[in-house]
Amino acid sequence: MKLTYYGHSCVGVDTAGHDVLFDPFVLGNPLAGAVDIARIPATEILITHGHGDHMADAEAIAKRTNATLVSNYEIAGWFEKKGIAKTVGLNLGGAVNVGPLRVKYVTALHSSQMPDGTYGGNPGGFVVQSEEGAFHHAGDTALTLDMQLLKTFKLRFACLPIGDHFTMGVDDAIIAAQYMGVTKVVGLHYNTFPPIVIDTEKAKAAFSAAGLELLLPTIGTTIEI
Ligand code: NI
Ligand code: MN
Repeated sequence: MKLTYYGHSCVGVDTAGHDVLFDPFVLGNPLAGAVDIARIPATEILITHGHGDHMADAEAIAKRTNATLVSNYEIAGWFEKKGIAKTVGLNLGGAVNVGPLRVKYVTALHSSQMPDGTYGGNPGGFVVQSEEGAFHHAGDTALTLDMQLLKTFKLRFACLPIGDHFTMGVDDAIIAAQYMGVTKVVGLHYNTFPPIVIDTEKAKAAFSAAGLELLLPTIGTTIEI
């Protein structure tokens, strides 16, 4: 698998010949100036919740790529009204097959409201299973015991928020990784705005001391994972 980090919580995972794009938010990200949204590939766009910093560029990318947009029922319906051709609206605990992928919408402890004030359903995270294995994107969430349930997927890696203030911080993300049984974590939702600026070297050291690896790819770069 290959993972490209587009900043904040936006990551693309290349697996089983598909380009799965999570939480597109690039144009409004002050740190992502080098990323050209016209070149971001997507066969599926997965949106964890209705906040602008997780979906602001979804409409443009979905219309350009004709990707299938997967989110909760309320968010999928909101995008359908915007003219997105292919949408799938899940609810917590539900999974769906999209091409060679199985996509499950799992618990997140957060909030969800669309930028226009529309109700955004329950926030969630995703587990994606492909022939190459399974991985998790947590969206925005607090630490929750439900994360222990994800152990059964034998995740290759998890993408977890580490910026604190609006989500888990580093210490809770370490416990989350332990609950999920993953050793490889891609850090999300840090440094974009002043309240979520963190010391990244300290964060890496804390993960390392717990026997875990924290990956913080530079925005716009692709890693093998
Ligand atoms: Ni949020
Ligand atoms: Mn957020």
